[in-house]
Amino acid sequence: MKLHFHGPAADLHAMTAQCSTLWRKLPECYEGVLGWLDCTAATEGYVQAVKEKAAQWRSFADTLVVVGVGGSNQAARGVIDALGTENGLEIVWAGNTLSAWELQKILERLKGKSVVMHVIAKNFETLEPGSHYRVLRNWMEGRYDAREMARRVVLTGTEGSRLHEMAKERGHLFLPFPKPIGGRYTAFTVVGLLPIAAAGLDIDRYLQGGLDMQSLVNNGEDNPAFRYAAWRNAMLPNGFDTEMLVSFEPRFERLARWWRQLFGESEGKDGKGIFPAYSMYSEDLHSIGQYVQGGPRRLLETFISVQDDGGNMPVPLDRTSRDGFDYLEGRDFTFINRAAEAATLKAHSEGGVPCAVFTVDKVDEYAFGQLYYAFMAACAVSGRLLGVNPFDQEGVEAYKRSMFAILGK
Ligand code: PA5
Repeated sequence: MKLHFHGPAADLHAMTAQCSTLWRKLPECYEGVLGWLDCTAATEGYVQAVKEKAAQWRSFADTLVVVGVGGSNQAARGVIDALGTENGLEIVWAGNTLSAWELQKILERLKGKSVVMHVIAKNFETLEPGSHYRVLRNWMEGRYDAREMARRVVLTGTEGSRLHEMAKERGHLFLPFPKPIGGRYTAFTVVGLLPIAAAGLDIDRYLQGGLDMQSLVNNGEDNPAFRYAAWRNAMLPNGFDTEMLVSFEPRFERLARWWRQLFGESEGKDGKGIFPAYSMYSEDLHSIGQYVQGGPRRLLETFISVQDDGGNMPVPLDRTSRDGFDYLEGRDFTFINRAAEAATLKAHSEGGVPCAVFTVDKVDEYAFGQLYYAFMAACAVSGRLLGVNPFDQEGVEAYKRSMFAILGK
């Protein structure tokens, strides 16, 4: 994976070195939240159990409902939405909304399917996954007996939580949510691994991507994570307080949502933080593109670019229609998409938008492993550069308190 910068720039040398120091000092500053630093430790030895369960499910079921919200589903969803489920179970995402309409749609989608379920809820207090688990549990219990339920349901939560007790009472496999890892840093734990494996994707390659990035980050300051963290923080004093993650591969939209949660929840505190947004190009160039080019100079733009998109889709010959697109004849859409990307990067960076470009070789499990680890490492040091705690999220409790008061909890 490569990282390049375009447009307004700053000397990043000193700040990149500072990132390296902050990274080394993380364990001195935080206790009980750094279990994700080592991808192997993050899996807590559950890789084999995950593979076995996923293989068993794939042998008899066709649909996996993943119940979870925020950090408890975004990483897996990013990978699965981009890579598909051709070799595995269809995935239905639940527990991430309070919309009655959405929940009805979920139940409709499950009709006639052989359903298995992975419930992920760290504290088992969050309203969305807790309430959806109840509905889906009732729905499944109406179709499967206790023995069937036992093999069809896996619960992931904190050891000792009520969810853990329920797993014991019902004979479900319980895969623990690692204590020293907050939701949005769980990409390489069972939280991310089981849905990805059930979708038929290669979790070894995914973990390898994470591990390779981990060793890059631990072996010196010249790595994409520190350079990226330094870049966004070097630009902030010049008024660049909003960052947009963009890609010409729309299948990265869920990765962008994962990234937005990671940075938004980690940095937005104490009146500080770079606001994380995202757009998918070229579609959004026809809406937000005008703002990026002509609006206030406060946007940072971070591209996720792909070297080999695996596409092979030439524009067909058509000499009779005179539709005005003959100049594209024989050109592949990969070439056309690249041209649009290069043109956008040039126009935006020359127009005063600082741009960072991450380029991955392919859209595959390995690339996701690299990207996730790089962004998590970048987020941790970026939060430190900003002077906030990147591992708490006190702010989200405020709305919950008044919501629970209304609901009479
Ligand atoms: O990053 C975080 O800690 C949060 O986004 C949580 O992942 C999210 O709120 C879900 O929490 P829980 O798994 O406890 O339901």
